[in-house]
Amino acid sequence: MELLEAMGSRRSVRFFKPWKPVEDWKIQVILQAARMASCQGNCNSTEAIVIDKRTYPEDKFEQLIECASAFNEIQLRTAPIIVAWLVNMDAWFKDLVKSFAVLFPAMAVTAAHGWTYKLLTEVTYPRLMSIPRDKVEDLLRVEAGQGIAHALLAATDVGLGCCLLATGRKPQELPKVLGVPENIVPVWLMALGYPAESPGQRPRKRFDRLFHLNEYGTPLPEDPKVREELKNEGLFQPMDPQPGRDEEIKHICRMFGYDEGLADMPKDQIKALYEEDSPYYGELPDGLEKHGV
Ligand SMILES: Cc1cc2nc3c(=O)[nH]c(=O)nc-3n(C[C@H](O)[C@H](O)[C@H](O)COP(=O)(O)O)c2cc1C
Repeated sequence: MELLEAMGSRRSVRFFKPWKPVEDWKIQVILQAARMASCQGNCNSTEAIVIDKRTYPEDKFEQLIECASAFNEIQLRTAPIIVAWLVNMDAWFKDLVKSFAVLFPAMAVTAAHGWTYKLLTEVTYPRLMSIPRDKVEDLLRVEAGQGIAHALLAATDVGLGCCLLATGRKPQELPKVLGVPENIVPVWLMALGYPAESPGQRPRKRFDRLFHLNEYGTPLPEDPKVREELKNEGLFQPMDPQPGRDEEIKHICRMFGYDEGLADMPKDQIKALYEEDSPYYGELPDGLEKHGV
């Protein structure tokens, strides 16, 4: 799969085939992709625990489910693999001088940019170490996002589906359930497996409401020719709701014994999403007639 096609094919998958295990080599591909993501000062602070339900203690898994937001329970129960993405604070506070220094012999940073080993160890390093811990955690969460984004695309490339999962129900409990030391901050859980659903793309806000030219508030217009070309490349794919999506959801839910209904939303609220003052104006997907739009 080409990169733009992988970006266009990625979905947050919310129903998995629990009976279909994930090959070990595919997990390796995903983790290697995460490892190669860009990171501040080359610090590689993003780590992960791969939880394989075939070998993970059942009682511990139930504790993990209790930590996750209730709307994530189905993903946790149906995905054969759960990845707990973590930030290692020691990668900053203990290892940064080494992980940055390795860029010197690699000739990634050079004297042309003003780098000397003295500058790194006597100026840059002490400055970075003086940043408060909560600010560093914010910085490293951005780095984790880079690694996770690589992982999501690599998973798509090898035919797997993922869903990131918030752990808002018992955030304080999660580190204890995972058994991680103090320097490790769990950031997201991720369900990983073969999708039991095949949804279309999800809506995004209009290009010209997100991007600005020279100054904030001056829309940078979308180029329709580029958008058309990106359709050919696979970045843009048919949007949800795809024909038969409601039937797909019904049948999947019947198979697993879940509520077969669609999530309710008042018709006028749906309509308002696509009106002129809405960021989705002009982005109306097909198949909303059923909702009276
Ligand atoms: C950081 C992050 C956290 C997310 N947490 C959840 C979650 O807890 N549960 C869930 O079902 N989806 C979660 N998602 C998925 C988003 O809801 C999803 O990306 C969005 O609806 C767009 O759909 P798409 O990913 O299929 O394009 C999360 C996504 C991100 C990037």
